[in-house]
Amino acid sequence: MNKVSVVVGTQWGDEGKGKIVDLLAQTADYVVRFHGGNNAGHTIVVNGKKYPLHLIPSGILHPNTKCVIANGVIIDLEVLVSEINMFVNDGVKVDGRLFISDRCHLILPYHKALDIALENARGKDKLGTTGRGIGPTYSDKVSYNGIRIYELVRWDLFVEKFTFQTEIKNEILKTFGVSEIKIKKELEKIAELRKEILPYVADTYQILKKAIDAKKNILLEGAHGVMLDIDFSPYPFSTGSNVIPGAVNTGAGIPLQKISHVIGIVKAYTSRVGGGPLPTEIFDKIANQIREVGHEYGTTTGRPRRVGWLDLEAVKFACEVSGVTEVTITKIDILSGLKKIKVCIGYELSPSVIARSKATKPALPAGRQSIKIPYSSCGYEELNKLTPVYKELPGWKEDITKVKSFKALPKNCQSYVKFIENFLGISVKLISTGPAREEYIKL
Ligand code: GDP
Ligand code: IMO
Ligand code: MG
Repeated sequence: MNKVSVVVGTQWGDEGKGKIVDLLAQTADYVVRFHGGNNAGHTIVVNGKKYPLHLIPSGILHPNTKCVIANGVIIDLEVLVSEINMFVNDGVKVDGRLFISDRCHLILPYHKALDIALENARGKDKLGTTGRGIGPTYSDKVSYNGIRIYELVRWDLFVEKFTFQTEIKNEILKTFGVSEIKIKKELEKIAELRKEILPYVADTYQILKKAIDAKKNILLEGAHGVMLDIDFSPYPFSTGSNVIPGAVNTGAGIPLQKISHVIGIVKAYTSRVGGGPLPTEIFDKIANQIREVGHEYGTTTGRPRRVGWLDLEAVKFACEVSGVTEVTITKIDILSGLKKIKVCIGYELSPSVIARSKATKPALPAGRQSIKIPYSSCGYEELNKLTPVYKELPGWKEDITKVKSFKALPKNCQSYVKFIENFLGISVKLISTGPAREEYIKL
């Protein structure tokens, strides 16, 4: 049987997907990115060396694994070239192992300028995007204004389209008071980057189809997290792509029936970068402790991440909508030393907030000020106003980074894992206990 596995972040991104993909890639023939761009920042730590990856799939350090950037990914040429060079200079063979779809859309200088200009225009309501041009590139894609690697290969077509689009975008940028993009200068820069990319351009659909026919082991590396999915997040506090495994079909051309495993990555607590609701966010001493011990600073932008307790109401939804078949828990080591650990097991909300969007006011049970509401019924207004219902679990003191079996974990840590497993109703198959490749427990 085929093994086609999808790794999906079940929270707001930065769950530790890169570490897990690198670990699982040991036995994968192909690792595939299928959506998002260099707003993703996936960290791999091998032999004490840290690799922050934004576009190259996290299987690149395994010499027998091939890496595919499939059609759903959007590409910033400068970032991709510098990432390729980082590995080449490190002695990693990339040639013959990296394949980039010519259907990928390009993130161009005006996309980044527009992303930043729109954020500035939003003022206090800014979304906190990564400023990497993600939203503007995906919106150009669906409004038929995008430019793909296909055109980059056919340089004359690229020059024509890039000139036309830059002229239009410069008019828009002018209204924001932003200086114009210099077409000639940018074309010169892109022409140089193009030469470095061309050897990797391929028909990735055919590569993956043949791999599936040959029963190869394929690992699809999701980016971001379900809570940022363009449809299932509290829009517009979203990223520009679908994050759920449905995007494997549109973003890599792999039929959904071929997917055999969906691995949901659950960080043992919550983090979020940028604006938008975060129901279990905390601001106290514990928040600072988790942020510092967990190094919760963005891999892409270096921004401090907001932190909070594990939100199982949100994670349960993410697992359901993604069809998660097994769970990996990450960063549980960061909770060592906390006396008590809270876990959100549901949301409660005053009916007056719900009633705004419903024809009839929901009935309030006698003696109650609020009623239960599932994540899926919440928009940003509800998520900002609800009260999380917490279960408090006892913590543990021991450092668990070097523990190699579930039984050797402190009893309260075991109970924490079991609580998550029972709540989600999905087996936990792997626990990550540190950033390094070898720091994990298999169940
Ligand atoms: P991704 O975007 O989901 O790949 O996650 P990031 O790489 O942005 O952020 C996760 C951070 O936690 C990185 O610095 C990882 O090296 C680190 N990390 C991953 N798993 C673990 C773990 O189990 N324990 C600890 N302490 N760090 C981890
Ligand atoms: P990985 O793959 C965390 C967030 C941004 C912002 C929102 C929109 O490393 O888990 P965008 O630049 O995508 O238009 O910004 O989405 N965001 C992420 N947050 N991890 C990520 O990826 C993210 N990708 C996007 O911070 O709030
Ligand atoms: Mg990240």
